[in-house]
Amino acid sequence: MSDLDAAWIRLETAAKAAGEKRIVEFFDTEPQRLETLTLDVAGLHLDLSKQAWDEPGLEAALDLAHAAGVEAARARMLGGEAINSSEGRAVLHVALRAKADADIKAQGVPVMAEVEAVRERMKAFAEAVRSGAIKGATGKPFKAILHIGIGGSDLGPRLLWDALRPVKPEIDLRFVANVDGAEFLLTTADLDPEETLVVVVSKTFTTQETMSNAAAARAWLVAALGEEGANAHLAAVSTALDKTSAFGVADERVFGFWDWVGGRYSLWSAVSLSVAVAAGWDVFQGFLDGAAEMDAHFATAPLEKNAPVLVALAQIFNRNGLDRRARSVVPYSHRLRRLASFLQQLEMESNGKSVGPDGKPAQRGTATVVFGDEGTNVQHAYFQCMHQGTDITPMELIGLARSDEGPAGMHEKLLSNLLAQAEAFMVGRGTEDVVAELTAKGVSEAEIATLAPQRTFAGNRPSTLVLLDRLTPQTFGALIALYEHKTFVEGVIWGINSFDQWGVELGKVMAGRILPELEAGAVGEHDPSTSALIERLKK
Ligand code: F6P
Repeated sequence: MSDLDAAWIRLETAAKAAGEKRIVEFFDTEPQRLETLTLDVAGLHLDLSKQAWDEPGLEAALDLAHAAGVEAARARMLGGEAINSSEGRAVLHVALRAKADADIKAQGVPVMAEVEAVRERMKAFAEAVRSGAIKGATGKPFKAILHIGIGGSDLGPRLLWDALRPVKPEIDLRFVANVDGAEFLLTTADLDPEETLVVVVSKTFTTQETMSNAAAARAWLVAALGEEGANAHLAAVSTALDKTSAFGVADERVFGFWDWVGGRYSLWSAVSLSVAVAAGWDVFQGFLDGAAEMDAHFATAPLEKNAPVLVALAQIFNRNGLDRRARSVVPYSHRLRRLASFLQQLEMESNGKSVGPDGKPAQRGTATVVFGDEGTNVQHAYFQCMHQGTDITPMELIGLARSDEGPAGMHEKLLSNLLAQAEAFMVGRGTEDVVAELTAKGVSEAEIATLAPQRTFAGNRPSTLVLLDRLTPQTFGALIALYEHKTFVEGVIWGINSFDQWGVELGKVMAGRILPELEAGAVGEHDPSTSALIERLKK
């Protein structure tokens, strides 16, 4: 048996044993538990002490990380090796937030000069649009940006904008992603083309949704400003520079990035140009700096004190050790409400794989479903199921230690809910307590027999709590980098390539076949259900 197989078995055995005990009791038997399982990194406080592992469980998880070669894999990624083997690419989103003088190479080729050159151009462009030095075709300054992109070219910038946008932005920022005319219509209805800059973001510049929206935006501009006027309102972000110029974007308005940046890891690049313009360069730079701080921690901290590693191991412990196949991420912060959508792509597109880079089946279950929305709203939606449903779903609860936004007193209420939920998930409420309460109220014994079980909370639901000191560009950058590295560590332990996404191809190809059939052509060969639906829609 290999060391890795043995480590997996130890993890599974330890998890089974821990799963039979109550998390809250680990605090009695492990005096060091809080100290061991809390850490402060880059303005974030992490508390993993309410997780399902006990001391032997944590030890087994750390052994697994060592046996899976997490440290060596980390060195390969940071060293710019082609760890995305199916595409022969390095994985260097860390370079996008590194200082200009960092020594970073992609497969031996230094990258920082190019990274810095694009950053300088982005900064100059952002400042020129904000100051009004760059204007629209009719001489008016830009008051709005229409950001067009999907997936990694949308979710990151959208989250970033919500997280850090000024309360009253000088330049409004709107996003269009879906190939659904309704979204385009609703988003542009109150925009004035004379004052709108359209930024088309697509790594490949071929994505159907983005190119359809880009064509719609161009037509919308042309109708108001004519062909030449429209071009003055376009900018693009892409690795496909030939295609952007064919679309009519002037070369000086095209911002590149590199094949060593995956779409879902690209929000540190020019993909967030719209945000850098609308929120200002300093905000964007702060975001990069916060991530760089998390990168330095991830690169150097020992595994047992490494925040991304511990968050990943908690997930592995739950997923593989305790067979928990979903995880919910709940930010108690309106500004972070889109975090789960972002993580769905980051984690599920990265690690939703069934085979390793050698083409052989993965030996253990990989990515779980991740879902969530903002607290407290979700308490009034799906938390019933989280507290009393038949399945246990581990949680990540995220909050801001301090916030000055909004009316006095509200933030404390938000925080009290966050802490209460984490406690309730772990501690629950025993039947005796419920019985005592009902008895004191004079409820009959017969009624208590049916009511008490319904009002009992089993507890023992694991959660990780992440507290940002405040929501600043820096802490937000650190939070996103934490999740990126967590995703990477999980991929290493599961033995999969986290950086390709072949699973999105099949649907794209089939949609390409169905579109002409829907438009006019003869219906080709499909399964009976799909054929019947196509025929129905053609009528
Ligand atoms: O969903 C597949 C995918 O390739 C993502 O990885 C990517 O973020 C998204 O499509 C958008 O791709 P592009 O930036 O090339 O338009």
